[in-house]
Parts: sequence; C-alpha cells; structure tokens
Amino acid sequence: MYSLLQTAAPAGPLPINDLLFVVVPYVVLAVFFSMTIWRYVKEKFSYSSYSSQFLENQHQFWGSVPWHYGILALVAGHLIGFLVPRGVLWWNSVPARLYIIEGAALIFGIITLIGLINLIVRRATNPRVRAVTSKMDVVVLVLLLLQVIGGLWVALTARWGSSWFAAVLAPYLWSLFTFQPDASAVAQLPWSIKLHILGAYAIFALFPFTRLVHVLVVPNHYLWRRFQVVMWNKRASKAE
Ligand code: HEM
Repeated sequence: MYSLLQTAAPAGPLPINDLLFVVVPYVVLAVFFSMTIWRYVKEKFSYSSYSSQFLENQHQFWGSVPWHYGILALVAGHLIGFLVPRGVLWWNSVPARLYIIEGAALIFGIITLIGLINLIVRRATNPRVRAVTSKMDVVVLVLLLLQVIGGLWVALTARWGSSWFAAVLAPYLWSLFTFQPDASAVAQLPWSIKLHILGAYAIFALFPFTRLVHVLVVPNHYLWRRFQVVMWNKRASKAE
C-alpha cells in the first residue's frame, strides 16, 4: 500500500476529488434508493430480468451461469473487504493466504468476464435476442464490461488489491456511510483505481432504471433451477 501511494501520480486539485468521491457518491446513493423504491411502488411487476431464455437457450447458459457465479463471488469479496477489513489484513498477513485470496479473485474475475462476453455476443449476434434488447440494456452491458475489465486491470497492475482495499478503500467507504466523508486517501490513488470506483458509481446510479433491479427480487433461483421457458408479453420497448 505504501509503495502504491508513493508511486501514484500527484493528486489533482482537491475540489475535483471531493466532487467525484464525496458529492457524486451521495447523489448516487440518493438516486439509487429513491428511484429503486419509487419503481417498486409504481411498477412492482417490472422488477424482472425480462428473461430471453426462450429465444435462445444454449448460448445464454454459457453466458448467464459463469456471469452470475462470477459476479456473486466478486460482490461477496468486495463486501468482505468493506465489512471486515481487519480480518482481511489478518488473513493476508501470511503470504500463502494472500496468494489464495488474490488468485481466487482473479479466477472469479476471469469467469465473470467470459460470462459477460458470451452474454454480449449472444445479444449482438442473435437477431431474436437483439430485437428485445433496449438501449438501456446496451448501456448496462457496456458499463459492466468496462467495470469488469477495469477491475481486472487494477488487480493485475496494482498488486495486492485485497490488502490495500482493506487499508485504504474500506475506510473511505465507511467515511461516506458514517457521513464523515474523507476522500483524501482516494485522491492520491492512480486514475485506473479512481475510474474503477467511478464506474461502480455509474452502475449504481443507473441500477433502478435497468433490468438489474431483478437482483432485489428474492428468492432468486436462477442459479440452481433447471432450464425453464419464460415468456413475456410486454413490448420490447418497455423491457429495460
Ligand atoms: C459495480 C461494482 C463493481 C464491479 C462489477 C467490480 C468488479 C471488479 C472485478 C471484476 C475485479 C477483478 C477481480 C480481482 O482479480 O480482484 C475487481 C477488483 C477490484 N475492485 Fe471492483 N468492482 C466493483 C466495485 C468496486 C468498488 C466500489 C471498489 C472500491 C471502492 C472496488 C475496488 C476494487 C479493487 C481494489 C480491486 C482489486 C482487488 C484485488 O486486486 O484483489 N470495486 N472489481
């Protein structure tokens, strides 16, 4: 972590960092919660992934399954770093354990990327699936792709992310949630990491307006159920 902070580009003017890493996340949180609740109250039945499995199954399987298992593992990893940073630092204090956690994160990152690329190829190449793909679907897929590639880039270029996430980014995120925002450490980080954080904010801001809201509908049995044909009678233009 020390060397990372030392070799980082000099910090830009603080106001820009405050804008991007204090004001923006609060705006994002406000949009995320207000619009997610509003959509649930107004359009409860639109909380769906609008499955297109009935249009083409095989290709979707090789996209959807690795994507969902990969992203769930990554979300869990990010959450653990946020919730128990001291535990992560303790675990990483033994090099073999650090390699295990970093190796696992990298493998799940690659699985996620493979799944996402398959999902994108399927949407782009299958005319029937393309016909039910909205502009917002395209925006979400591109943002997710950039976010996953950016995460892998960070993991490969700024080693050992699980440790400095716990030491630098967890306190930053906690400072936001406890309404004592402090972006001074983030301001020192390289832009590759800053872009990864901003990418996450962009995804959270768009979340309530997209089919990503389906993650809030439990029980979410897509991960273990057998193949199933789901038909929607909503028009494609509304499927976002
Ligand atoms: C939509 C939300 C996000 C997605 C989809 C995402 C995705 C990813 C992916 C695919 C990786 C590579 C996996 C690995 O090898 O570690 C990664 C790594 C990383 N992400 Fe994220 N991320 C998200 C949000 C965030 C946020 C909000 C932060 C910090 C505030 C963050 C910080 C990091 C760090 C530090 C790493 C490197 C971990 C390591 O090297 O072990 N990510 N992310």
